[in-house]
Amino acid sequence: MDENWISAFLAHEEMEPNRTGHAALPAGPPLWGGRFASEAVRAEHRHELGLGWLYYGLARALQPRTVLSIGSGRGYVPILLAKAQQDRDAPPITFVDPSFDDDFWTEPDRVREWFASFGVEDHIVHHQVTTEEFSGTAACAELPPIDLLFIDGGHFYEPVEADFRLMSPRLAPGGTIVFHDTVSRSANPKWSGPRRLLLEIEEQDPQWQMLDLPFGAGVTVVRRRAAESRPAYLEGLGAIWADSDSTEF
Ligand SMILES: C[S@@+](CC[C@H](N)C(=O)[O-])C[C@H]1O[C@@H](n2cnc3c(N)ncnc32)[C@H](O)[C@@H]1O
Repeated sequence: MDENWISAFLAHEEMEPNRTGHAALPAGPPLWGGRFASEAVRAEHRHELGLGWLYYGLARALQPRTVLSIGSGRGYVPILLAKAQQDRDAPPITFVDPSFDDDFWTEPDRVREWFASFGVEDHIVHHQVTTEEFSGTAACAELPPIDLLFIDGGHFYEPVEADFRLMSPRLAPGGTIVFHDTVSRSANPKWSGPRRLLLEIEEQDPQWQMLDLPFGAGVTVVRRRAAESRPAYLEGLGAIWADSDSTEF
């Protein structure tokens, strides 16, 4: 991802990071992810990829084979994930969005042209369905286990709960989930679903570990607690203390 590509990406006014909660401004008071920031502060972040670095970087660092991106207003996240796959010559990402908010994702030719304007049309396969509908398709059945799952679809509790319930069992071992819009100032159920779901998971299901990144509209990284988070040497520290001079990591 070179500087020219980033400038061209940000030149699309729909990709203003602050527009959809991806600017690296603090989520929470007083700025609430930038939505209430002054024009001057917003302008400062207009030409920065913000959380986009994280999305692109995660896909480069984790080297996923299968990436599933659920929901996006204009493609900020799926385009950056597709770019990461393209830059490392990896398979296309799958993007699921029923176009509930407007008609942006309804015309396959226009959708392809939109992705082509970023040069990533061969690295995104869009399905104009809900996650629930997608889960019953052959395309979903044929999808290899998911290494990186980005959840940014409906923000009522019910759709985000369905995204997690239907797709988390399809994660590859060690797979990573990223939720967006996880810091909401609003008690409006239209927005508060992701936070409600994450609190529920945290309280009820210790197999998951999570990291909140309170920037933009809030991002939370979720992963199944794995063996390496409770290494054997902690279980029997005394017994193997003699090995403390080991030069092996
Ligand atoms: C408004 S966007 C999220 C905003 C976001 N932060 C962004 O980057 O654009 C939410 C998207 O989720 C989609 N969506 C709503 N319900 C969904 C569902 N059940 N499954 C998949 N996508 C859904 C909508 O069509 C919409 O495009």
